[in-house]
Amino acid sequence: MDMNESPIGVFDSGVGGLSVLRHIRNQLPHENLLYVADSAYAPYGSRSSEEIQERSLALAEFLTGHGAKALVVACNTATASAAALLRKRHDLPIVAMEPAVKPAVETTRNGIIGVLATSSMLKSAQFAALVESYGKEVHIITRAGIGLVECVERGDLDGDEVKTLLHGYLTPMLEQGADTLVLGCTHYPFLRPVIEQVVCGRMSIIDTGAAVASHLRQRIEDAGIAAARPGHGEASFWTSGSADQAHEVMSRLWAWSSHYPGDV
Ligand code: DGL
Repeated sequence: MDMNESPIGVFDSGVGGLSVLRHIRNQLPHENLLYVADSAYAPYGSRSSEEIQERSLALAEFLTGHGAKALVVACNTATASAAALLRKRHDLPIVAMEPAVKPAVETTRNGIIGVLATSSMLKSAQFAALVESYGKEVHIITRAGIGLVECVERGDLDGDEVKTLLHGYLTPMLEQGADTLVLGCTHYPFLRPVIEQVVCGRMSIIDTGAAVASHLRQRIEDAGIAAARPGHGEASFWTSGSADQAHEVMSRLWAWSSHYPGDV
């Protein structure tokens, strides 16, 4: 197959990366997309770096085996543990995520920023390096969003558990005056309507899905491998978990994403 018509491979620990895939669909409508949710191994946030590397390598093999011309690591946690290794092993454009500390520093007015991410991400060398590079002049309050990934994996975006967890994580940030919130996990944009209810306009909410999609567009254009055909590309979805549950949850989240293709 002509490389330009080959698909873009996208993976996450589970369904969270669909929050990035919607931006890719939006900004690169002609591309064929292959998405893998590693739901049998989610959440990654409580796994060791070695385990996350092993899973990321397996998923990259799977996607390149299905002809992917570029890879998107639609998972902050996998990026922190495995992006460098994937780049060593695979000679194709690889676009990965990082919590939006830099944009948050540019956005905050009072210099107080909240970062909600997985505990593995917050403990990573990548996060420490981000704080070291951009966070010297601001106060950063971090919180591990324990339990939130599991809720999204079940398709629970606004139930009582989600509301209680988010109140517990965000209220202390609000009390300490944070005016900007970084969503440092790709599952969290699906919780944005509840997050907005909790923060009630007191924090600007920053997510990196749109920036990752535009970086991907640039990379594949620069490499001369962007889809050349007119019309919409196709999206295919795979999971390492239960196909029935994945079908139900992914269809719901993908439909949600069509409602909120860009800004939410
Ligand atoms: N969605 C992922 C992230 O962006 C991983 C969450 C998890 O599996 O713990 O970090």
